[in-house]
Amino acid sequence: MCKDKKNAPIAVIDSGVGGISVLSELLRIMPHESYIYFADSKNAPYGVKTRDEVLAIMLENTKILLGEGAKAIVVACNTATSAAVRVMREKYPSLPIVGIEPAIKPAALVCEHPTVVVMATPLTLKEEKFKNLMDRFASDEEIIPLACPGLMEIIESGQTDGEVVDAYVRDVFAPLGDKKIDAVVLGCTHYPFVKKTLEKFLGDNVVILDGAAGTAREAKRRIEAAGLLCESDDHRIEYLFTKENDDKEELCKRLLSQLK
Ligand code: DGL
Repeated sequence: MCKDKKNAPIAVIDSGVGGISVLSELLRIMPHESYIYFADSKNAPYGVKTRDEVLAIMLENTKILLGEGAKAIVVACNTATSAAVRVMREKYPSLPIVGIEPAIKPAALVCEHPTVVVMATPLTLKEEKFKNLMDRFASDEEIIPLACPGLMEIIESGQTDGEVVDAYVRDVFAPLGDKKIDAVVLGCTHYPFVKKTLEKFLGDNVVILDGAAGTAREAKRRIEAAGLLCESDDHRIEYLFTKENDDKEELCKRLLSQLK
């Protein structure tokens, strides 16, 4: 494998700043790699679009990322993973492509037959991939899907705590009333940034899970298996935003430091 290919960047893609929660875990276990953080702000939000719309967008984005020289793509977006990863892999069989899915599997280990709330975008919860995941674990867990339209936009505006986030969380959980919850799965990569508010609202007895660390581990395995782990110390992170005049690099850096 040629050195240039090994030292090429790993692309991390989301509709906005949410994938920073995955980038943070990638940096933890692959600190010497270079990354292109690609925020598709022009097409955001993905979560209220149709599957076909998100698939078409992701196929376009894949071409752009390959044009940027990416050696692997981490789809750091649950919505885009469920709508597009299977087709992306079919089209680019030799490119390591790693997706993320709601951490329903680890939630089963929280206690015996837990009640698990899965917060995600409307499209993620509508997709076949989620239905299959739910069917697989239905005998171990009571799974309650909780669509959270609008939450990504709040986080995109830079608000990760405060009155607006408090009110959103209170309202979105209101239909569950006093239901006893054992675990909450953050099925959208934006949501780890409001974890503190969720902890405050849910209390100490509710475990909050997300799939970022598992996705980063899988990315490392796949990149290693392809013989593409980098061999240089000259690493960098480049931020790309598809919407003109919407440079959120500073917000990305702030969110990254929030997770350290
Ligand atoms: N961060 C994305 C996810 O993990 C979704 C945000 C959006 O709706 O675009 O699902």
